[in-house]
Amino acid sequence: MLFASRSFCCLGIRTHLLQRDLPSKSIRFSAFATMPFKHKNTRRIEGLDSNVWVEFTKVAADPSIVNLGQGLPDISPPSYVKEELAKAAAADRLNQYTRGFGHPLLVKALSQVYERVCGRKIDPLTDILVTVGGYGSLFSTVQALIEEGDEVLIIEPFFDCYEPMVKMAGAKPVFIPLRNKNDGNSASSADWVLDPTELANKFNSKTKAIILNTPHNPIGKVFTREELQMIADLCIKHDTLCISDEVYEWLVYKGNKHIKIATLPGMWERTITIGSAGKTYSVTGWKLGWSIGPQHLIKHLQVVQQNTLYTCPTPLQEALAQAFWIDYKRMDDPDCYFYSLSRELEGKRDRMAQLLREVGLKPVIPDGGYFMIVDVSTLNVDLSDVEENQPYDYKFVKWMITSKKLSAIPLSAFCGPETKVQFEKYIRFCFIKKDSTLDAAEVILKNWNKQIA
Ligand SMILES: Cc1ncc(COP(=O)(O)O)c(C=O)c1O
Repeated sequence: MLFASRSFCCLGIRTHLLQRDLPSKSIRFSAFATMPFKHKNTRRIEGLDSNVWVEFTKVAADPSIVNLGQGLPDISPPSYVKEELAKAAAADRLNQYTRGFGHPLLVKALSQVYERVCGRKIDPLTDILVTVGGYGSLFSTVQALIEEGDEVLIIEPFFDCYEPMVKMAGAKPVFIPLRNKNDGNSASSADWVLDPTELANKFNSKTKAIILNTPHNPIGKVFTREELQMIADLCIKHDTLCISDEVYEWLVYKGNKHIKIATLPGMWERTITIGSAGKTYSVTGWKLGWSIGPQHLIKHLQVVQQNTLYTCPTPLQEALAQAFWIDYKRMDDPDCYFYSLSRELEGKRDRMAQLLREVGLKPVIPDGGYFMIVDVSTLNVDLSDVEENQPYDYKFVKWMITSKKLSAIPLSAFCGPETKVQFEKYIRFCFIKKDSTLDAAEVILKNWNKQIA
């Protein structure tokens, strides 16, 4: 009763009307029902409520479904990584807060690894920020450096959170699509390229940053030196920042090389490079990431972090640091996990491609990352029974989950509004899966093939 009368106070005149006409039980209910009018969402999150991961993780949650959708490794992380976490949790002092911008041992290890990769000095205290995953790095970068009214170039298709993050900062996403240079007949992720003139025309005085992702999710493209140089030249010409999402940096396949745009002349000063423990060590649940860049940019990201998250979990950072030390010391050895994982994945990539070919599909073979896209429109599946006016790929994946017990992710989720039609015939499979998961996918695809034949 006390609670009900408190609610009446803040709801004012409307509750008095209810009080007169309705019995007391209904009054309490009605008072709650009016609450949402007062507590409306902020304008900065308006229109950002749909999310492909929330939607498809829910529909693929049934354990009878073979989940090749979300980028979730089901292979075991290296045993030393797990052991280091157990050791860290056993040390009392490592169960308390650590330095906010990154656990001292971790930023030291990261600086050593990346000094080697980038061929330059990286100060562990001023040039690195440890965050909550690659997501956290993207968030603090955008919040710290993107202003209301700025334009941010996003290459399509793109990791879906780039667009809402830019919008939440009050800036305008400007999309530039990768185009298939083989006119729809793509065999390799390298077929997808930026048109140099189209890209140049997107830059203007409002362009604050471009978000680059190499190796690329979802296509698996590894940008070449020439392509990166073209982007770098435009960034320098227009005094634009580069937010380089390189969470799949170690996952490149034979014949390809990952190049950091920050290592091109004139780019270190204007680039934030983003990495992820989840992708480096197949521990996505650890949710640790890092931003690396010049002190004059990283210091602003640190301000965001100190006023939002403050710090990341200490035991995880300690364990990650120890894992990095182990692999740092063997960076010349092919057994270093940075290289051995991509060798393991290359076999899985080839197997996945073969499985898809068996149902008559032509997968786009990725040069990096652990996703593979494929045009499914050639299967001519009858989707008339699938509800709602959603893009073709959404309907196809929903149909495939229900009818075939196999899940993937629709590619149009990775596009801005105007390019969705260009990509809606593609879906994305994740192949960082143990053999038994791929075996289960094989059974589904072989049966499917029999039904088609
Ligand atoms: C391109 C890209 N960037 C960033 C992330 C986020 O990484 P994390 O899981 O470390 O937050 C992902 C995760 O899938 C990704 O694919």
